[in-house]
Amino acid sequence: MQNNIVDIEKEAIESIAQAKSPDQLEKLSIKYLGRKGVLTKFLRDISSLPIEERPGAGKNANILKGKLEAVIKKAFLKLEEDADKGDAGVDVTLPGRPLQMGSLHPITQVAEEICDIFLRLGFDIAESPEVETDYYNFEALNIPKYHPARDMQDTFYVSENIVLRTHTSPSQPRTMEKGKPPIRIISPGKVFRCDSDITHTPMFNQVEGLMVDKNISFGDLKGILTTFIHQFFDKETSLRFRPSFFPFTEPSAEVDIRCVMCKGKGCRICSKTGWLEVLGSGMVHPAVFEKVGYDTDKYTGFAFGMGIERLAMLKFGIDDIRKFYENDIRFLGQF
Ligand code: FA5
Ligand code: MG
Repeated sequence: MQNNIVDIEKEAIESIAQAKSPDQLEKLSIKYLGRKGVLTKFLRDISSLPIEERPGAGKNANILKGKLEAVIKKAFLKLEEDADKGDAGVDVTLPGRPLQMGSLHPITQVAEEICDIFLRLGFDIAESPEVETDYYNFEALNIPKYHPARDMQDTFYVSENIVLRTHTSPSQPRTMEKGKPPIRIISPGKVFRCDSDITHTPMFNQVEGLMVDKNISFGDLKGILTTFIHQFFDKETSLRFRPSFFPFTEPSAEVDIRCVMCKGKGCRICSKTGWLEVLGSGMVHPAVFEKVGYDTDKYTGFAFGMGIERLAMLKFGIDDIRKFYENDIRFLGQF
């Protein structure tokens, strides 16, 4: 029987070394180590041996059992490694992974659409910096230092006299300083305010508009803005001009449109009012004209500033402005 266990070992090690697949290894494992396997049978037959040979035979059989378990485990690992190294794991007939197509950010799409409408109405595009001096952001717009109107917008200060512009209105004095009327421009871009909730983000986009010439009236302001709202949404969209105050326009009006979420019934987005403010506007204040050296007896004009995110929320039915800036591809991919 001593001989027998040596034979078993020799035969088992040789066949394990020749195994070419995990399947074959599995079968060998069952053949030698299984419940009805060679070693189990050997251990069961020990009782038929002379009493003095039994302890030695049992010990040898258990040692071999441990050894075969280790050798089989190692052989499995080797097969796995070989498969990784070769190209056996690559199936060239599988379809490739699809590439994600990018698209313009919804805010960019809406900004372009707004600009297109005004370009068709004869407006030009004027650029203006995002980091602005206190002078253009406030002083030139008739908002002197320590004036309470500065509290209307929570300003990010870069230094004492430099700010992140709180609105696109600095483009008004900047444009007027560069030339004489007639002026008909829009100026889109980012603005910054220390403000955050479902309808406010600390960075958002506005489009400024400015039209200056002889005989420009509030009627022109109403006509242009109504035309814009009807082209941007549709002809059925109700809007209202609500008296308001801006230091750089007089008279001033904010424009609200009927909340498209609740159709005016009142909801979370419109704070139960049925209306949503989309822009501020008014007739350019004479104090602003004086700063840029325009003759206030000769020229009049109107200006407006609209929130692009607000218009995009209403157009696409989005209930939280912050979604635009969370960079969730599942959200952005819908536009
Ligand atoms: C202004 O910023 C004025 N400069 C607008 C103006 C221009 C008036 C020219 C007269 C003449 P207001 O703070 O109301 O006004 O902002 C204008 C629009 O920007 C708002 O109607 C709203 O649509 C949008 N808006 C304001 N704050 C935020 C914010 N934190 N997040 C997103 N949109 C905002
Ligand atoms: Mg406002």
